[in-house]
Amino acid sequence: ANPSLLILAGDGIGPEVMEQVKRVIGWFGEKRDLAFDVSEDLVGGAAYDAHGTPLHDDTMARALEVDAVLLGAVGGPKYDDLDFSVKPERGLLRLRKEMDLFSNLRPAQCFDALADFSSLKKDVVAGLDIMIVRELTSGVYFGEPRGIFEEGNERVGINTQRYTEGEIDRVARSAFELARRRSGKVCSMEKANVMESGILWREVVQKVRDTDYPDIELSHMYADNGAMQLVRAPKQFDVILTDNLFGDILSDCAAMLTGSLGMLPSASLGKPTEKGPPRALYEPVHGSAPDIAGQGKANPIACILSFAMALRYSFDQGDEAARLEAAIETVLAEGARTADLMGAEGGTPISTAEMGDAILG
Ligand code: NAI
Ligand code: MG
Repeated sequence: ANPSLLILAGDGIGPEVMEQVKRVIGWFGEKRDLAFDVSEDLVGGAAYDAHGTPLHDDTMARALEVDAVLLGAVGGPKYDDLDFSVKPERGLLRLRKEMDLFSNLRPAQCFDALADFSSLKKDVVAGLDIMIVRELTSGVYFGEPRGIFEEGNERVGINTQRYTEGEIDRVARSAFELARRRSGKVCSMEKANVMESGILWREVVQKVRDTDYPDIELSHMYADNGAMQLVRAPKQFDVILTDNLFGDILSDCAAMLTGSLGMLPSASLGKPTEKGPPRALYEPVHGSAPDIAGQGKANPIACILSFAMALRYSFDQGDEAARLEAAIETVLAEGARTADLMGAEGGTPISTAEMGDAILG
């Protein structure tokens, strides 16, 4: 049977960028004899409009069956006043939770043609290709106790940074597996100097490396220094492994090394399944962009690169993923630019579909 893919285009520009991904998927079936069993369903506001819930149970069940899920974006002003329990992002959160996607991969890759877009000097970022692995399902965003409590005559806001050995172990493995497909180098970031969870993090990551990944070159860095190094000399890194909170911040920081939100893909991976590859959800980093939705202006590259990640990590088609990335590199080098990629030099932007044409051409 063909590998299976569930497409959840979602809201706003989600369906617009996904349209171009579907053309790319069709191209692989036709030209590369790489066909997928594609199904499509609703998520977010679109699912709420149809079913009164941001993710239907049937959709959830399907997501657990397929080899990979590809999601566009969810949300928009139309849904801002909905009750929290049915807000569009709850659909995405449910997917992440029930698929147990604990490892979030965010590449920061600088396409040479866009190096001028970086917040940094061109030579600092040209050729940059690093990957941040962020723990996604635990840590301070979930730890108990949490809340705002009365304490004496004032209130106190409490969150708890909490990591079990098992949670650290599994995300470390995911980073080491990834590093084996890359340069074999991992830098783990925490704050073991001031945090108990950081001490445990460092210890467990080192133990997993020493026990099962002796081929990996592992280093440790305090996360604050990591932030500094990311901006000073990002090319010293290959895979960066870090927790939920630091990963949130460091990955946004790394994102800006490379320019537009319209270029950034991501993957969220879970435990390896019986079939081999882990449960996986691929999505662009950007949201539904209501300010440009419906105007054909959205950059489809982030979503197309997310599919490239699916080719590499879920379907074991690294060469085909590289082929797709090279096609994107080429059209950018030739000057194809959606509106978000227009620099100070000006010019005429192309549409979402025209960018798709260029990449397929
Ligand atoms: P956003 O990422 O949707 O947009 C931020 C800015 O970047 C906007 O000016 C937008 O036009 C631009 N932009 C984003 N993607 C682009 C693309 N592919 N091509 C060209 N320009 C692009 O973030 P924002 O505005 O904070 O949120 C809008 C909605 O999206 C909200 O409802 C929010 O909750 C939701 N959202 C959903 C996410 C998801 O589905 N994973 C992630 C982030 C936000
Ligand atoms: Mg963030």
